[in-house]
Amino acid sequence: MSGNILIVGATRGLGASLRDLYASNPSVINVFGTTRSDSKPDSHPKVSWITEVDLLKSNVGQKLVSQLPSSLKLSTVIVTAGYFGFESFDTPDWDKQVQMYTTSAIAPVFLVQQLVKAGHLNEGSKVILGSSESGSITLRHEKEGGGNYGHHASKTALNMVGKLLSLDLKPMGIAVGLVHPGFMRTDMTRSVGFDKYWDDGGAVTPEEAAKSLASFIEEFDINKTGEYWAPRGPRDIGTAEPVLGANLPTPLQLPW
Ligand SMILES: NC(=O)c1ccc[n+]([C@@H]2O[C@H](COP(=O)([O-])OP(=O)(O)OC[C@H]3O[C@@H](n4cnc5c(N)ncnc54)[C@H](OP(=O)(O)O)[C@@H]3O)[C@@H](O)[C@H]2O)c1
Repeated sequence: MSGNILIVGATRGLGASLRDLYASNPSVINVFGTTRSDSKPDSHPKVSWITEVDLLKSNVGQKLVSQLPSSLKLSTVIVTAGYFGFESFDTPDWDKQVQMYTTSAIAPVFLVQQLVKAGHLNEGSKVILGSSESGSITLRHEKEGGGNYGHHASKTALNMVGKLLSLDLKPMGIAVGLVHPGFMRTDMTRSVGFDKYWDDGGAVTPEEAAKSLASFIEEFDINKTGEYWAPRGPRDIGTAEPVLGANLPTPLQLPW
């Protein structure tokens, strides 16, 4: 991996681990990391913080681009910011759903569109959108049950958004990928009580997930644009298999 990297959602979890991993790579020139706060967190000297990038705000794309050097070319953009608000059939939550759909499936369009229009992405650039196996309709079985409408379906919507962006950007040579990073031991899963599944579900640390995602991104290119991948496999089995398609290694059983 070389060049300049942008990580949207670099403060915690997977985004923070990717930030540190890329910042420690001598081939990487600079890591740009976003925070929704108005202050810059302390971190590695090779990390430039972009502040007040809130995916719930309609001007999120302009806010991001206005803080980047105008001549900056990005080799890779990873959108990993996400929110999981728990719901059950008895407790659907309108506001949480709006927050999840906005974060997962609306904001990425405006971020990517602004980056392209400002000239920060060009031939050979890669855009990686953080999806989830929970957004796969194919992989949802009776065993895992229903609920969590906003979280899971907003990732399904993101998968279509990524496919559409890939079609728009293919003529420019910009590749767009959708990834399930793996089941991770982060604030996200803890906040909805899924830490009780961490051991049985094979949850990995965000540092481990960042390493396998970075290896996947290294190989990812325009030949795979528009595809939806699980670099660790859908059940953390350590292989790269498409989450959607005929090539599934095993019938997936989500831990929730
Ligand atoms: N954890 C898992 O098992 C798992 C499984 C499959 C897919 N994923 C996906 O992987 C990605 C990373 O998950 P994670 O577990 O690392 O999450 P996490 O630990 O909860 O961290 C979430 C990150 O997103 C940022 N964020 C949330 N809402 C935002 C907003 N409105 N605007 C800007 N930034 C916002 C947070 O910033 P603040 O610090 O400001 O809150 C934080 O940096 C997500 O897209 C998630 O859906 C996770």
